[in-house]
Amino acid sequence: MNKVFNLALVEKYSVQGPRYTSYPTAVQFNEALDAARFSQLISASNASRRDLSLYAHIPFCDTVCYYCACNKIITKNKKHASPYLDHLAHEMGAVAEKLDANRKVVQLHWGGGTPTFLSLAEQWRLTRLFRDHFNFVGDDEGEFSIEIDPRTVTPASIAALREMGFNRLSFGIQDFDTDVQIAVNRIQGQDETKLAIDEGRKQGFHSISVDLIYGLPLQTTKSFARTLDKIIDLSPDRIALFNYAHLPHIFKIQKQIKETQLPPGQERLNLLEMSIQQLIDAGYVFIGLDHFAKPDDSLVKHQQAGTLYRNFQGYSTFSECDLFGFGLSAISQVGNSYSQNIKDKKGYYAAIDAGKLPTIRGVELSQDDLIRRKVITEIMCNMKLDWQAISEAFAIDARQYFADEIQRLQPMHDDRLLTLHAGGFTVTPPGRLLIRNIAMVFDHYLPQVAQQTFSKVI
Ligand SMILES: C[S@@+](CC[C@H](N)C(=O)[O-])C[C@H]1O[C@@H](n2cnc3c(N)ncnc32)[C@H](O)[C@@H]1O
Ligand code: SF4
Repeated sequence: MNKVFNLALVEKYSVQGPRYTSYPTAVQFNEALDAARFSQLISASNASRRDLSLYAHIPFCDTVCYYCACNKIITKNKKHASPYLDHLAHEMGAVAEKLDANRKVVQLHWGGGTPTFLSLAEQWRLTRLFRDHFNFVGDDEGEFSIEIDPRTVTPASIAALREMGFNRLSFGIQDFDTDVQIAVNRIQGQDETKLAIDEGRKQGFHSISVDLIYGLPLQTTKSFARTLDKIIDLSPDRIALFNYAHLPHIFKIQKQIKETQLPPGQERLNLLEMSIQQLIDAGYVFIGLDHFAKPDDSLVKHQQAGTLYRNFQGYSTFSECDLFGFGLSAISQVGNSYSQNIKDKKGYYAAIDAGKLPTIRGVELSQDDLIRRKVITEIMCNMKLDWQAISEAFAIDARQYFADEIQRLQPMHDDRLLTLHAGGFTVTPPGRLLIRNIAMVFDHYLPQVAQQTFSKVI
């Protein structure tokens, strides 16, 4: 039972479910939380003096990958970037003027789309905007990361990112196999990828991570094993191995993917089993969900100490920050609320041009939401739950509060996804792979949400 992959369990528990980068999930966001309310929440957040985590969404890409589920705008016209930055500047100014200038920024992330769609001059402009508006901690204290499409960088531009203050790089790779790359319209050479990663190391970035996807068209265990060999040679500190989320009714570009070329169910499971084994054999630790890290990586250390956290950027070592997201579709997490920006460029520009914050929807958490969020975060991050700690944190009798859920955990205990004991429960290695199923037991809203909204957990 120490093995992470257990075919019978995976088959039994393979359902659709949320990834819990937030709880409640974005499906629960509604228009009651509008720009005016968000503005009040920003000002009110100063009393907490919480540190800040900042996100910028750069939606542009110059070619489209057929599998892509990100919020992006495909264009080869670089002229779109400058007006976008003008609007980001206004948004950032409007938020920053409400915030206590002493609050420290411990985390920054640029995501997309493709942040390196911006020219170097534009990347510097955005860097200065952030640095002028906010108070950043030093390089040793904070995590400043950017998503890189290796096809859009050079050694010189990677060096420039270090000068801009970034200290972590996240590279999109997906698969090195030529046939798979053609099938998903993402032709990416191994040499250009290696050059970018090697330059990242040379420039002293603290951490390098890569994104891979299993379940893409034409993937076989043999071909993907070769990709993993090459990844292991590149020796990233962290590896995200995403399960391909094929939802063509939501992400229209995925209609370009030939469904007949997708690996059938059994092959998909073989791909997952083989990948987990190959990465563990190479010395990586399985963090949970779809993340692996080297044993000396801070994610592993924080998980061992029970202090790992989760937000919209995935696993994180900083808890209790207020997160401000800027740009199209960006999500903020401020105090006990989540809010999201308008998703389309026209609407986003119109709101900002009218002098408004571009907030479109969100949710303020009830006491029940807060309790369940804490429980779900503990499960997703630290793989265990201590009823006493939950009882003390919320002045409740957690065992009584969750009496129904504890009963529903019993079959998972019998299947050895977790071990229930008097004080709480601990997730077993096969349970780590099915961690969403365990968290879903505590999701109050799930029965009301159409399952096809979410991707499959495996
Ligand atoms: C914003 S994208 C990556 C940044 C950059 N544009 C690139 O492509 O290199 C973040 C990651 O999401 C993952 N991703 C995108 N669409 C996905 C899907 N349908 N299923 C699973 N993972 C997906 C990919 O691994 C991708 O690297
Ligand atoms: S995977 Fe990256 S480069 Fe490809 S379309 Fe999505 S955001 Fe753009």
